[in-house]
This record gives sequence, structure tokens and C-alpha cells, in this order.
Amino acid sequence: MSVKTSGRENWGSKVGFILAAAGSAIGLGNIWKFPYIAGENGGAAFIFIYLICIAVIGLPVLIAEVLLGRTTQRNPVGAFKALSNSPYWTAIGAMGVIAGFVILSFYGVVAGWSFGYIFEAIKGSFYEFEQPNSAADFFGSLTSNVAWIVGFLALFMCLTMFIVYSGVQKGIERGSKILMPLLLIILIILMIKGITLDGSEKGIAFILQPDWSLVSGESVLLALGHAFFTLSLGMGAMMTYGSYMSKKDSIPGASLQIVFLDTFIALIAGVAIFTAVFATGLDPAAGPGLIFQTLPVVFTKMPGGYIFSIMFFLLLTIAALTSSISLLEVVVAYFVDEKKWARKKAVIVFGTVTFLVGVPSALSFNLIADVKLFGLNFFDLADWLASNILLPVGGLFISVFVAWVWGFDKVLVELKRGAESLFDNYPWIITFWKIFIKYFSPVLIFLVFLHSIGVLDLIIDLFK
Ligand code: PFF
Repeated sequence: MSVKTSGRENWGSKVGFILAAAGSAIGLGNIWKFPYIAGENGGAAFIFIYLICIAVIGLPVLIAEVLLGRTTQRNPVGAFKALSNSPYWTAIGAMGVIAGFVILSFYGVVAGWSFGYIFEAIKGSFYEFEQPNSAADFFGSLTSNVAWIVGFLALFMCLTMFIVYSGVQKGIERGSKILMPLLLIILIILMIKGITLDGSEKGIAFILQPDWSLVSGESVLLALGHAFFTLSLGMGAMMTYGSYMSKKDSIPGASLQIVFLDTFIALIAGVAIFTAVFATGLDPAAGPGLIFQTLPVVFTKMPGGYIFSIMFFLLLTIAALTSSISLLEVVVAYFVDEKKWARKKAVIVFGTVTFLVGVPSALSFNLIADVKLFGLNFFDLADWLASNILLPVGGLFISVFVAWVWGFDKVLVELKRGAESLFDNYPWIITFWKIFIKYFSPVLIFLVFLHSIGVLDLIIDLFK
């Protein structure tokens, strides 16, 4: 590989890489989305399917993405360019950079709510609620306030920019080393609090008892799609982080740890949230409103709720922040590597651009709520475009490229770097990875994609 990488930054340590990548993976997807989709789709039954998806698609694709980054020491565009020299494959990398903008624009809005809720928790605003309805009205009044919603989006983007601005080691790695342990400690405290509440057993049963009657074909596809989003796959975030990784470290080993941390956090977030919701006798199937409408009411009813509410929204904001920095880093790395921009300039320019792209998403809750494209407002459109089109298509092509285009002999040489003893002792790992990345991942991702654009449903209807 003759790619010039002089002067490019690297992670200071293997643990720095693992924490940063786990920080990217662990985000709103784990704490906000996973608990309610698991709850609505059969609890442990859904979790079982989700774990299979993580093992069969998530882990193999994560390994492939990190490998592409580490081999080329480049951002997604540069990585595909270096290995394929084809404009078509380079376009897949470019799609990742675009996905970075699109995701950050709506992700930043929800992260901004979470940030704003820390202040509401400190002010004690939640004590005014008796019923989820009043919490829902309160949420509605905040999100319809343009200054509040745009202001917190701006503040959250400033935090994101501040960390990325300081560089790979001094910003992202240092930030992750402080924020990730803090996140884990807060979540464990909240979980212990949840488990020790009277009536918490019902919450544990809800999330851990399999109810196969709630599992449908739709749930399987949901599990597959979520496995993707939660591991930050399909848009080159893990490729970019992998590009700062040392060739002395084992990619399969690090990837396994990232997947483990991500899954573990999602599970304990589910336990912490549902034990508290059930112990206060509220409705568990609150869907996406669970966090911003149901939980504030839970906190008012719980002993010590004031402090736990602050901790919870701090936790959610930290989780979102360590993910959003990875999204901005994809865009920044592209301009630094390919366009030779200074990091600081790239951060300021593209942090600001992403904020501006996020404004229509923020205004979808107030001023331009009625402006719809394909029946969706800007916020839903950005979410839909990223989750249903850009990420699955990106992931599909990443698997196909690594498995079929790059040349499997070269792939194995790179994969074995830093993992020599692992492969000597367990040669079957390669066989499994090969089967998964060549066959399972592309086929399953393709099915999810067909489903998300509605084609699969049409085909299924034809056979009915
Ligand atoms: N993995 C993040 C979450 O679960 O919230 C979301 C995400 C971050 C997706 C970064 C994609 C990405 F590149």
C-alpha cells in the first residue's frame, strides 16, 4: 500500500480507539430508541433477534469498515479512491460524507432537546407535571419555541465542534476517555436506582421476558436496521476512526469490544428506563415520546427524582455528543485529507454548515411544520433518508467491496496485521467472517433496503 499518510494523526492508544468508537456507537440509538422498540416488539424475543443481527451483520461489517480505514489511513472517499481507483466506488465514500451531514442535522436537534432538558431538570420544571399529558404539552411548548429549539441545536453543535476542533488525540480521544466512563457510571447508578424501586420486577419482565406473539417479520427487519444504526455502520464513521488506528492492534478484537459495549449499554438503558416506568405505574409503550414525555413524569414521582432527572439528561447528552463528534469527523477528515484544509478551518466551516442544515429540521416542529416533501417534514425526511437509504446502501456496498472487489487475499493480509496470534489460535474466525461478509451481510442488508423502500412488502403481497 503506497498511500502517503505523513503528518496524519493517530490514536494515542488502543483503548483510546475503542472508547472513541464505542462512543460513536453508543448514542441516542441505544438510550432513546432501543428500549422502546424492544419493548414494543416482544422484549427478550426482540433482543434475541437483535443479538443475532449484531453477530451476523453488525460485527462483520464493523470489521470490514475499520479494515478499510486502517489499511488506507484515509477518510471514506480517500479509502475507496486508494483501493479501487474507480469513480463509482469513490462515490460510495462520498455518500458516506453526505450521510454525515444528513444524520447530524436531525441528530443534533434531538441532542439539543436533551441538552435543553438538563436545564429544565435543574430548574425543577418537571415538578409541575402530574400526568404524561402535561409533560407532552410542556414538550410541545418547548419544541414550538423557535429560539429554544434552534438555540440548543446551536449550543450542542458548538460542543461537538469544540471537541473535533481540538484534534484526534487531544479532542476526540481525550473527550471519549472522560465522557465514556462518566456515561457508564451514570447509567449504572440509574440502573441500580431503577432495580431497587418497588414494582421494578414488572419492568424487568417487560424487557427480559420473551413475548413471541409480538414478533413479526417487521420486527426482524427493524432489528436488522437498528443493528446498523446503533453501530454507526454504513457511512464511514467507523472507517474514519479506523483510519487513525495502529497496524499493531487487532481489528477483530477491538471490534468485538465495541460491539459488546454498545449492546451492554443498550440493555442496561432498557432495564434502567423500564424499571422506573413500571414502578411509577405509567404506560410502557410510549414510543418515541418515552424519554421526553414519560420519563419527566417518572422522575417527579420517584424519590430523589430531581437529581436522577439531571443525571439522566446529562447521560443522554453525553451519549449523543460522542456520536455526533464521529459524524462531524467524517466530514472534517474528508476535507483535511482530500482538500488539504486545516482541521480547524474544516471544523468551523462544516460545523456551521451542519448547523444550518439542521435548522429546517428544528423548524419542522414549529414554523415549517406544514412544509412536506414526499409527505414528510424536513426532520422526518432527513431521518428517513439516512436510516432507510444512505446507511443500508452504504453498508451493502462496503460489504460487497471488501468481500468481492478488493481481492480477498489482500483483505486477509491486512486483517491479520495485529491479530496474528488470534488467527493462529482460532483460524475458524476467518472462515466465519468470510461467509458472513460475502453472503449473509449483503443479502440481508439488501432485504432490509427493499423493505425500507416498500419493495419487499410488494413482493410479499404478490405471493399471498
Ligand atoms: N450509533 C449512533 C446511535 O446509536 O445513536 C448513531 C450514529 C452515529 C449513526 C454515527 C451513524 C454514525 F455515523
